[in-house]
Amino acid sequence: MTTPRPETLAKLTPVLTKRWLSPDAWRLGTYEKLDGYAALRKALKAHPDDLIQLIKDSGLRGRGGAGFPTGLKWGFIPQGDGKPHYLVVNADEGEPGTCKDLPLMTHDPHSLVEGVIIASYAIRASRAYIYIRGEAVHAARRLRSAVDEAYAKGYLGRNILGSKFDLDLVVHSGAGAYICGEETALLDSLEGFRGQPRLRPPFPATHGLYASPTVVNNVGTIASVPPIVLGGADWWKTMGTEKSSGPMIYSLSGRIAHPGQYEASMGITLRELIELAGGMKPGHELKFWTPGGSSTPLLTAEHLDVPLDFEGVAAAGSILGTTATQIFSDQDCPVYATYRWLEFYHHESCGKCTPCREGNYWMVRVYRRILAGQGTHEDLDTLLDTCDNILGRSFCGLGDGATSSVTSSLKYFKQDYLDYIEGRTAPKLSDKSLVGA
Ligand code: NAI
Ligand code: SF4
Repeated sequence: MTTPRPETLAKLTPVLTKRWLSPDAWRLGTYEKLDGYAALRKALKAHPDDLIQLIKDSGLRGRGGAGFPTGLKWGFIPQGDGKPHYLVVNADEGEPGTCKDLPLMTHDPHSLVEGVIIASYAIRASRAYIYIRGEAVHAARRLRSAVDEAYAKGYLGRNILGSKFDLDLVVHSGAGAYICGEETALLDSLEGFRGQPRLRPPFPATHGLYASPTVVNNVGTIASVPPIVLGGADWWKTMGTEKSSGPMIYSLSGRIAHPGQYEASMGITLRELIELAGGMKPGHELKFWTPGGSSTPLLTAEHLDVPLDFEGVAAAGSILGTTATQIFSDQDCPVYATYRWLEFYHHESCGKCTPCREGNYWMVRVYRRILAGQGTHEDLDTLLDTCDNILGRSFCGLGDGATSSVTSSLKYFKQDYLDYIEGRTAPKLSDKSLVGA
């Protein structure tokens, strides 16, 4: 195990995570003692347009994966249109390896509730929803308790803190479908329909929930709003890089000494994150990793010094995504890891479009064949050809994301595939896995 150097420790920037270790921080009384709802009091004295400008000035970008500028998104909401506006928080965290929103809602649910109230005030919404993943029972319980406390204290409901601003907030649990994390499938699900993506454009900003203007933001995005209101845009920009401002919660899992959530200035490298996490597990050497969940192309030990911000990861040929770094070692097999992710995408594909529905079905079968020692060299061409027919031809990001680990593992680890095909690696799956294939 390694001890982090002081200069690496200085890259830790606990802003969203600062209350996580305080006992009972999820209760209103403790939250209030730790700055809680001070940002709301300040925000309600400001003009909503000034709040939108503040978020634009801070450079805050969406924390759900796409990194879209938050202030710009809020500014798309048409004003004076006579329609109701909605704020919907996407808390359907489901990307394999991703674990930043669920701990936030469990440890510090009021920070999300406070962010929801401020964001709703800014975009003139009088109803907000938090759509939380169905399996996250404990986090949902904590959130509901926080919402009840906020109503009882006058932070939610009518005439909030005497400001004449009204807001109702509903916590809605999904039913455990990954596709409902796609923003338009989420809106369909919230409206009571089967969750399937809608055609975009029009974007939710103009045609969202019940066809009304809607902002859909990730949990981390909304929880960033109170600290920005309190600390200001310039303070926020002291962290991160020019185009990727602020702190980010990186979730680390896999072959490292201390897996968990590390909140650091954007642009930190994986080498530094591993150092913060106490190093690799004894006896393990880094082989491959995901910068932002299983939908992002794999990177390797060559990329240890890539800055983990939106631009840095893109320049390295991947995507920052959900900042879920899953770390694999020389004792892990990239072919098998990719197969397991594909099983997930195949299972979670909503079936609406052919490239994703059929492509993932077939790729899973090709992987089973390779891993059972019955693959051929042509199978590798078939995989790349199938990816070509999914990427950019799918209806939503799920299909595109499914191809990431296939193409990147073939790019960096073709030899591992050939070792199965040419018999140097023992089969990992039995012939039984091919039944029905
Ligand atoms: P996107 O880039 O299409 O859109 C991002 C956001 O900007 C959306 O809210 C969209 O409505 C808005 N937007 C984009 N262009 C707009 C325009 N012209 N006018 C108004 N609004 C506009 O990305 P998408 O497909 O919404 O999300 C993909 C990301 O989600 C991926 O990068 C992936 O990493 C991430 N993801 C996250 C998961 C999680 O569990 N957090 C799960 C799976 C994927
Ligand atoms: Fe459904 Fe997959 Fe098509 Fe998305 S890409 S609409 S998940 S079938």
